[in-house]
Amino acid sequence: MNALHLDTVRLSGDGQALVILDQTLLPNEVKYLHLTRLEDFWEAIYSLRVRGAPAIGVAAAYGAYLAATQFPGEDPEALCAFFHEKKEYLNSARPTAVNLSWALERMEKVLLEHKDRLSVPQLRERLKEEAHAIREEDIAISRAIGQYGFELLHPGDGVLTHCNAGTLATAKYGTALAPVYIALEHGMNDLRVYCDETRPLLQGARLTAFEMQTAGVDTTLLCDNAASLAMRRELIDIIFVGCDRVAANGDFANKVGTSAVAILARHYGIPFYVCAPSSTIDPNTPDGRSIVIEERPAAEVTELWYAKPMAPKGVKVFNPAFDVTDKDLVTGFITEKGIARAPFHRSFRELGLL
Ligand code: MRU
Repeated sequence: MNALHLDTVRLSGDGQALVILDQTLLPNEVKYLHLTRLEDFWEAIYSLRVRGAPAIGVAAAYGAYLAATQFPGEDPEALCAFFHEKKEYLNSARPTAVNLSWALERMEKVLLEHKDRLSVPQLRERLKEEAHAIREEDIAISRAIGQYGFELLHPGDGVLTHCNAGTLATAKYGTALAPVYIALEHGMNDLRVYCDETRPLLQGARLTAFEMQTAGVDTTLLCDNAASLAMRRELIDIIFVGCDRVAANGDFANKVGTSAVAILARHYGIPFYVCAPSSTIDPNTPDGRSIVIEERPAAEVTELWYAKPMAPKGVKVFNPAFDVTDKDLVTGFITEKGIARAPFHRSFRELGLL
């Protein structure tokens, strides 16, 4: 089994359900969920059954389409109002990954552009096409990022990554792991991938290590706080991470712990690249201070993965899901349109990303 061949998120064959691979069960169980209710789409995103910024966007697009199929009337204006309400609800599931609101806005735009000349069934058909397009584009974008990232790799390189920005976080290939998949296609079989376990939800241990190991890559799992020693021992040649929202100046949010990796990389002189589909670059966010950081339940830190609670009952917990990395720590953003280097405000514009 190779995780690359698992579908992360898709529409069911009969077009009636959102099908997701339940990532909370990995690596122990490969189980697909067929979801039809809006509340279940919301819960799947909130609970990280489907997660990773691009995959969340694709799930939301299909979720919005399915919501529109549940509209009972024939009036396009009423469909738009119904859709808007469902869209706002889905958008409330997670605040940091811009792909969620990006995909939902894109779906709503289709409705608003065509509502005056298409019937309700025709509008639904257009929404379905748009959701499929978002998924297909995500696959192409991830491959293009992989191609640019691959050009930075040398045989035998040690690659460190944080969280999971692989095939499970997208429709296919991933962003930060896409260069590794492309390297395998080119016969570069001797990369060494180091996966930060990524406390507290262990996306690195449960998902990245699973992906890389099932793809036949030399995979090493390390606790987040072992990254410094791995760098000091010169095991790491390059770092690839994903992102959930990139501000116009190049500050970016990604899974909590990413900024610590970037600071270490600067100390040890290791190139630190952020793999970013254009949908993650947010022109409406000027800098990192404006990024809303999701905070999650304390139990994720104290007890979720343990047989017994691992902290004294009632202790205060700070559990941000993401952090913000300063643009000055970034060697480059690998996008589907090329690699943006500092000053990012200018290079984003030159690549047509802003
Ligand atoms: O909380 P998660 O698991 O959704 O966080 C995922 C990440 O932080 C990823 O690095 C990011 O979404 C990019 S995925 C290509």
